[in-house]
Amino acid sequence: MINTINPCVIGLGYVGLPVFIRLQAKFRSIGFDSDPYRVKNLSKKIDTNKEFKKKQLILKNQSLISHDKKRIKISNFYIVTVPTPITKSNKPDLSHLINASILIAKHLKKNDIVIYESTVYPGTTKFLVNNYLNKYSKLKEGKDFFVGYSPERVNPGDNKHTISKIKKILAISAPKNIKHKVKLVYKQISKKLILTNSIESAETAKVIENIQRDLNIAFINDILIFSDKMNYNFDEIIRLASSKWNFLKFKPGLVGGHCLPVDPHYLNYVAKLNKIKLKTLLAGRDVNNSMQEFVLKKVEKKISITKSKIARLPKVLICGLTYKDNVQT
Ligand SMILES: NC(=O)c1ccc[n+]([C@@H]2O[C@H](COP(=O)([O-])OP(=O)(O)OC[C@H]3O[C@@H](n4cnc5c(N)ncnc54)[C@H](O)[C@@H]3O)[C@@H](O)[C@H]2O)c1
Repeated sequence: MINTINPCVIGLGYVGLPVFIRLQAKFRSIGFDSDPYRVKNLSKKIDTNKEFKKKQLILKNQSLISHDKKRIKISNFYIVTVPTPITKSNKPDLSHLINASILIAKHLKKNDIVIYESTVYPGTTKFLVNNYLNKYSKLKEGKDFFVGYSPERVNPGDNKHTISKIKKILAISAPKNIKHKVKLVYKQISKKLILTNSIESAETAKVIENIQRDLNIAFINDILIFSDKMNYNFDEIIRLASSKWNFLKFKPGLVGGHCLPVDPHYLNYVAKLNKIKLKTLLAGRDVNNSMQEFVLKKVEKKISITKSKIARLPKVLICGLTYKDNVQT
């Protein structure tokens, strides 16, 4: 056990729990979540997200999971993995990040380190440092304590691209000894770190990974709608086009979850704030949202045909409606 580093992971969801589980294997770590039910279940070794089995939740190095704010005071290395949803009017909702930042600020000590992992718009880390960490701690980032950003790429349910195997971006601008400490902790999380001094570059890189996918899927959805209306064979069109070496093979369909439908709005928010018009940014959103209607009509048509053939009402199985609560579908 390395005594000098005591990590605290704030938010033990899809992103935070795997981070915490890896860290507690080496450091005395605190897993903090504001949801008492999540904490109660995890303390009983039950992960309702079904990512971890009971025996993987047996903690080492005197580590613990808690929703008691006082528990985090032994920590000196904070990792923030709380949700970053959008409001009903598609604006970034930073309330969880703000609450977590205030909590950390109240416990910050000299030479402590804070790394944000939640998906954000570029400039958010700086905003949280200036308005919450500096203000509530009465310390100064870059002098008294240090802040970085390391976006997440976990893919729940995907056993191939697990946190230890995928490349992880880590952005921090700090003195050598602090960077060394950060790398020591992050090597425990991922063996393939991509380092940068630019937090804004890392923040932007994260959202554009998802926006690029959203736009590519939207384009292929458009082609599906076109083929359908023209009565062309979509699969045959894709088979032929894919024979070109640089054709990108995206599949049409519904775009749900909480990343692709959200992240374009995060980047759009900051672009608008700076009066920058990005013409393609939200183009995928309309198309991908309209696919629900398209699929529904197809199913209705199929059901009406089937109904005429069989006497009973057909049964419909909907898979992956939401893989977690409150996400857009
Ligand atoms: N799930 C993914 O596939 C994925 C992938 C990449 C990035 N992300 C990003 O990572 C972040 C976290 O996502 P997630 O899927 O893990 O969310 P989640 O909803 O699964 O988990 C978040 C946890 O944070 C807790 N929480 C909320 N506010 C808190 C606070 N102030 N203090 C302590 N705990 C708090 C919640 O109770 C919850 O257990 C988001 O920004 C998301 O966009 C998610």
